[in-house]
Amino acid sequence: MSKEQTSSPRETVTIIDNSTGKQVELPLYRGTEGPAVFDIGGMAKQLGIYTYDPGFRSTASCQSAISLIDGPAGRLLYRGYPIEQLAEHSSFLEVCYLLWYGSLPNQQELEKFTYSITHHTLLHEGLREFFQGFRYDAHPMAIMVGVVGALSAFYHDSLDIHNPKVRELSAHRLIAKLPTIAAWAYRYSKGEPFPYPRNELSYGENFLHMMFSYPTEPYKVNPVAAKAMDLLFLTHADHGQNASASTIRLAGSSQANPYACVSASVGTLWGPAHGGANEAVIRMLEEIGSPDRLDYFIARAKDRDDPFRLMGFGHRVYKNYDPRAKIIKKLCDEVLAAYETDDPLFTLAKQLEERVQQDEYFVKRGLYPNVDFYSGIILRTIGIPTNMFTVVFTIGRAIGWIAQWNEMITDNQTSIGRPRQLYTGPAQRDYIPLADR
Ligand code: ACO
Repeated sequence: MSKEQTSSPRETVTIIDNSTGKQVELPLYRGTEGPAVFDIGGMAKQLGIYTYDPGFRSTASCQSAISLIDGPAGRLLYRGYPIEQLAEHSSFLEVCYLLWYGSLPNQQELEKFTYSITHHTLLHEGLREFFQGFRYDAHPMAIMVGVVGALSAFYHDSLDIHNPKVRELSAHRLIAKLPTIAAWAYRYSKGEPFPYPRNELSYGENFLHMMFSYPTEPYKVNPVAAKAMDLLFLTHADHGQNASASTIRLAGSSQANPYACVSASVGTLWGPAHGGANEAVIRMLEEIGSPDRLDYFIARAKDRDDPFRLMGFGHRVYKNYDPRAKIIKKLCDEVLAAYETDDPLFTLAKQLEERVQQDEYFVKRGLYPNVDFYSGIILRTIGIPTNMFTVVFTIGRAIGWIAQWNEMITDNQTSIGRPRQLYTGPAQRDYIPLADR
């Protein structure tokens, strides 16, 4: 909310505490699109009560101009631009510029930005050693959490969060270095050499080169794979106040440094209810194995007493088809055709989607494939191992996190995130000495 909005609200919502008869009139704000919000900031002082909303189902935690999700219509905008148009005409680095700076770059701005990202891809040599401390079979997301956090120990010159130039440098470094960290996490798990980035390659090509090249022979990047990587990064770049975006805002509200905050978001993304779902989808499809087992797994997903859920289906905000899933499903067709392969898991995934769309349980609850449902099939085809899927998501989403963090720092309404609670523990009681218990 702008200052103007906060000082002269035109619309209000009245809250009445029926137990005391006290009431409070609260300002209502409307954004450019999406549901309005009413500001409960002054409520506790006047009524002496708090709101209760676990999971933030009805609560806006901040104002943001970065991305808009229109759940009922299945629409996603980055800075006002529909994801479909960006997927068709833009590139990941152009989208990074858009998300960070707020508008599309002209040719010169894009070239300067691309140059900067390309020239920050190397890691401090001390960080190479850092990888060696992990167990040989560590999950690459565990390595990501550790190495991203460790950046704050290697880049001391970008820790002044109050300096806009320094924040910009941190953002460039994060976008540039994440593919290097990610690829090296994979190479470490294989006991293989860590290839250095190459400046003549595009962002997506460079990631593939660091994932798959060997110093002993030339490596040619498959252009279909490079295009797919770029589009996957682009479609994952930002998504409103999801769990990992909210994590960076909460961590950052304490004025912690950006690398520590991004590391917290990486940890949040890892969970199977969030970014870990792309890995979980493939494991689920492998477990289902064949079409004749679909009935059994669909029945389990519908059973309230069974914790099993169909991975890659459902979303807190979308109760319609996730627009990113549409783009990715089409990309999946293209990649499989280009690789001339017929992945049986893709056929099974399409059969599962078809079955789910005819099933009242899923239709009634608005459960459609989300971004994670088809992305794993593309990554598998390109040769990315399953435990790297969430890492790929991390590379794409880092720009969203750091843009959300920057927006939070520059918002004059920001204060340390500090939710209240409904206390249900014992009321005050006296300590009983050990001998008397
Ligand atoms: N399979 C079966 N049932 C489901 C699924 C699913 N995948 N998702 C939701 N439901 C059911 C719930 O059991 C609930 O049923 P009920 O009304 O009878 O109690 C109803 O649909 C509403 O679900 P909620 O749990 O209230 O939805 P919520 O918004 O809390 O959860 C979430 C959203 C976490 C994404 C959930 O749909 C899920 O677990 N999906 C599978 C994991 C997944 O794909 N995660 C990736 C999300 S996208 C992303 O983070 C990039």
